[in-house]
Amino acid sequence: MSRFHLHAASGLALVGLAAGLSSPARAFPWDWDMVDNDFKRAYEWQMANLPDGAVTIDRYVPNADRMTPEGQALKNPFGAHPSEEVLAQGKHMFEVYCQACHGVEGKGNAPVTHNDPANNVRRYPVPPPMLSGTGAITAARSDGYIYLTIRNGGAIMPAYGPSMEDPEIWATVAYIRTLEGAQYTPPPAPSEAPR
Ligand code: HEC
Repeated sequence: MSRFHLHAASGLALVGLAAGLSSPARAFPWDWDMVDNDFKRAYEWQMANLPDGAVTIDRYVPNADRMTPEGQALKNPFGAHPSEEVLAQGKHMFEVYCQACHGVEGKGNAPVTHNDPANNVRRYPVPPPMLSGTGAITAARSDGYIYLTIRNGGAIMPAYGPSMEDPEIWATVAYIRTLEGAQYTPPPAPSEAPR
């Protein structure tokens, strides 16, 4: 190719580029055939009717932030001495929703969280242990705090509010309290705190 031809070719390419940049609607066929399609927008459909018997979720406990005093003060409606039935339900809930990550005894030694960096096995981060022993955490948490953690999730823990009803969550809280060393030990009042 001669020098002249080369220049002419690149000049044409530049003109083409400039035209393309300056006019957004200089359409290739595949630009406009999408727009002209005959389709219905979501708001043009009539919504399907709810199935018979569907009810709105009516939660009897207001939502709150687990970091606030109001949230932490929420009381377990099953009281301090829940029935065997409630504890059995809580255990069942724990096995269904919590055990996979928190382990059978809440110690975090579960399949999902088993990490073995030496063999490059990295899974879900290990939740803090919920029992007695090093690093146990639930003893320092109020019932309201645990309830809201289950309902709204933690920093990375998923939320179970959409999956569990309030009584199921509270039954789970009650069951957790029966685990060794998970009984609530409220922090000392400020006046009693060691200085
Ligand atoms: C997918 C894994 C996973 C599942 C399932 C799960 N958790 Fe957790 N949980 C975590 C992780 C990770 C943390 C620690 C980090 C955080 O707070 O997000 C945690 C933290 C907690 C804490 C301590 C929060 C705190 O700040 O003291 C409690 C209590 C708890 N979980 C209870 C439960 C209960 C009860 C269930 C079942 C309803 C459950 N978790 C299900 C992963 C999980």
